Amino acid sequence: MTPASATTRFSASLLSLLCVAAAVTALLFDEPTISFSEGFTHLFGNDNFIRSADDRSVRLTLNRYSGSGFISSDLYDHGFFSASIKLPKDYTAGVVVAFYTSNGDIFPRVHDELDFEFLGNVREKDWRIQTNVFGNGSTKRGREERYLVPFDPTEEAHRYSILWTPDHIIFYIDDVPIRELVRTEELGSEFPSKPMSVYATIWDGSAWATSYGRIKMDYQYEPYAADFSDLVLRGCRVDPVQQVDAADRCAEAVEDLMSADYARLTPMKRAAMRRFRERYMIYSFCYDQHRYGNVTFPDCDYVSPEHTRFGEWGDNQFPPEEIRRRSLRRSRKTSAVADSSSQ
Ligand SMILES: *[C@@H]1O[C@H](CO)[C@@H](O)[C@H](O)[C@H]1NC(C)=O
Ligand SMILES: *[C@@H]1O[C@H](CO)[C@@H](O)[C@H](O)[C@H]1NC(C)=O
Repeated sequence: MTPASATTRFSASLLSLLCVAAAVTALLFDEPTISFSEGFTHLFGNDNFIRSADDRSVRLTLNRYSGSGFISSDLYDHGFFSASIKLPKDYTAGVVVAFYTSNGDIFPRVHDELDFEFLGNVREKDWRIQTNVFGNGSTKRGREERYLVPFDPTEEAHRYSILWTPDHIIFYIDDVPIRELVRTEELGSEFPSKPMSVYATIWDGSAWATSYGRIKMDYQYEPYAADFSDLVLRGCRVDPVQQVDAADRCAEAVEDLMSADYARLTPMKRAAMRRFRERYMIYSFCYDQHRYGNVTFPDCDYVSPEHTRFGEWGDNQFPPEEIRRRSLRRSRKTSAVADSSSQ
């Protein structure tokens, strides 16, 4: 092969790669993205919050002085919330990035929450991605699941989405559904039902994020930067003070939401979800007998290959007693996310 033809070939394949990438971005869920100020406001960490000139992306950084975060300007009565996120590189033990919905500020004792949490790691070890669900203050037990992903989430942005309808909740990574929680009678009010805000944060989770808090954040590598773009907020905006009539007012929007493409799990999407879970899920509260004993939870779909995987990954190790006590006391001030036991 001559150098010229090599170059041509290289350009051609690069071009097709770029086209594919553009197509994926444009088609994914077919949902318009918004600028930051159309839907969000800055929440904390003044100096660590950097908006792009075109207002379409945000960099949140974490250093020894502060993390940072932003919040939706409104609360939403159900919705579809999405962002493309690129995680900090290199040594990130102790670092937590979160994209989540919550109403903890308004309903502290009976709050609802849906989480994507990204748990940093030592160099050469993968980030772990955690999802969690709280409904009406159900903090006595967590509903964590953790996954590895088939790509490097620090190399390029990937899309993380949360769908919340009155019938079910679906977490997506790119166009793959990775978790579904269906509303059932047994679940009762533990299925989130009150309006929530959407948050994105980065913070120091040294007390629990990596190896049960044994590995801390190292400020030698600051600042840690997470980039957010392709912001999507679709749902019925409500006023927290006048939410009484929200259900009526939002009925139509919720119906629309439920007929969206991403609200229907076709057999193909279900198969993709099952494949993802069997390959990449490394922890599920459903199989954690150390924490919960021999119980059956109504929100668990017990699947034999998942259970086997859980044992193989070794992410069901019981944390040392003193670390469990410490993580229970963990401060929840920057975010109401998650629960005591994380790896
Ligand atoms: C949420 O919990 C509170 C207190 O436990 C209870 O009074 C309330 O009825 C619950 N909410 C719903 C929607 O069931
Ligand atoms: C768990 O409980 C079920 C019935 O409730 C019982 O059949 C099973 O043997 C128990 N498993 C363990 C490991 O104790």
